Amino acid sequence: MSETPAPSNHPLTSTSPLVTRRQFIKLGIAMLGASWLGLLVQSWLFPSQTSAQEVKPVEVPLSELPVGGFKTFTYGAAPAIVIRTPESIRAFSLICTHLGCTVQWQEGKKEFYCPCHDGRFDEFGEVIAGPPPVPLESLAVQTNNDRVIIGEAS
Ligand code: FES
Repeated sequence: MSETPAPSNHPLTSTSPLVTRRQFIKLGIAMLGASWLGLLVQSWLFPSQTSAQEVKPVEVPLSELPVGGFKTFTYGAAPAIVIRTPESIRAFSLICTHLGCTVQWQEGKKEFYCPCHDGRFDEFGEVIAGPPPVPLESLAVQTNNDRVIIGEAS
């Protein structure tokens, strides 16, 4: 009576299974590293947007904002801008409403431009081109003597 030898690639007898314990551990470590890297990239690309209740108003001296001028600042954790025209003073978050990239104010064109997907907003924050679904977030503006106050007091 002769025994038939098991094939060498049989999962119970093979010396080299499809995935060794070492390979499994390496795969797990690689997946954890990729997850961590993904979170890091996400936080870099899409800075957190803090709600209005957590953000303190920002004051800008009127002398630093001549008619036709603008000033960028940080509102909460997000970039923002205040623009002074002969008619009004307006302020906006510079976070694109599409996927959260930072938009750029193009003074010569009187437009906001988002380089991520070519989104464009007019000087009032309204969408004029590209994929953004809604206007830029408008921030409350008040003037008090020689100061511009941006954002609402909580
Ligand atoms: S993130 Fe601004 S257009 Fe897509």
